[in-house]
Amino acid sequence: MPDMKRSLAYLCLKETKLSRSRLGQRLEIEPAPQFKRYAVAEKIPLPREFSDAGEPNLWELLQSRRSRRTYSQEPISLHQLAALCWAAQGITAKAGEYYLRTAPSAGALYPIETYIAANRVDGLPKGLFHFDVTGFQLECLAKGDFIQQVAEISLGQGFIKKASTIFIFSAIHRRTMAKYGNRGLRYIFMDVGHIAQNLLLAAEALKLKACPVAALFDDEMNDLLDLDGEEETAIYLVAIGT
Ligand SMILES: Cc1cc2nc3c(=O)[nH]c(=O)nc-3n(C[C@H](O)[C@H](O)[C@H](O)COP(=O)(O)O)c2cc1C
Repeated sequence: MPDMKRSLAYLCLKETKLSRSRLGQRLEIEPAPQFKRYAVAEKIPLPREFSDAGEPNLWELLQSRRSRRTYSQEPISLHQLAALCWAAQGITAKAGEYYLRTAPSAGALYPIETYIAANRVDGLPKGLFHFDVTGFQLECLAKGDFIQQVAEISLGQGFIKKASTIFIFSAIHRRTMAKYGNRGLRYIFMDVGHIAQNLLLAAEALKLKACPVAALFDDEMNDLLDLDGEEETAIYLVAIGT
């Protein structure tokens, strides 16, 4: 059994440490565009009023949030989906050239893209969608029933098949690594954690059920979303149900 200290992960931690001697060392990495858009995709605008969440209390939400894996057949509404998208990645302010969002991001570089596998959402056909952050709309990548496939790719975890919708987060590494080099990899995973926690708390506020999932066959998920797995790769899911 190899020792933890000889693992690739440990090596990665070691090599991505920041130290005084490494400050100022920069890798030559070309940046990537700030936003991804599917120009020719069918667009589904998301409602911007989604205040049916009542007045949830943050402290109560923190106390009650749990990973929940039993879902009913009842769909979620498009308003609820819009609220979830906004909680995850909504734009909240503009500062110079940066569009700041609900979740923090190292260097305000926002390397995380959001995809939706819709299963039971009122007013939205089953299918795969990309969330266009600036347009606050969904871009349809494919119509059809993909939920079974998402569950199989997620190591066959059965509860995923019953979800109303799955948020799939990918990373465009170059956005963050062009500035932070190797250390940027750490920041990308921190970024997605912030986004996912926003989403989980928003689901709790909407009285929905949610569970984060990191167990997935990376290349198969990339294939499903037509991501190349190099410039952009799927890294995390959140299943949401009623
Ligand atoms: C990075 C990460 C990956 C996870 N992956 C899975 C998963 O693949 N399947 C699953 O059922 N739960 C998954 N979970 C949920 C954890 O099992 C759950 O958060 C943990 O048991 C604590 O329970 P709580 O979320 O209800 O507090 C994951 C959670 C995190 C943070």
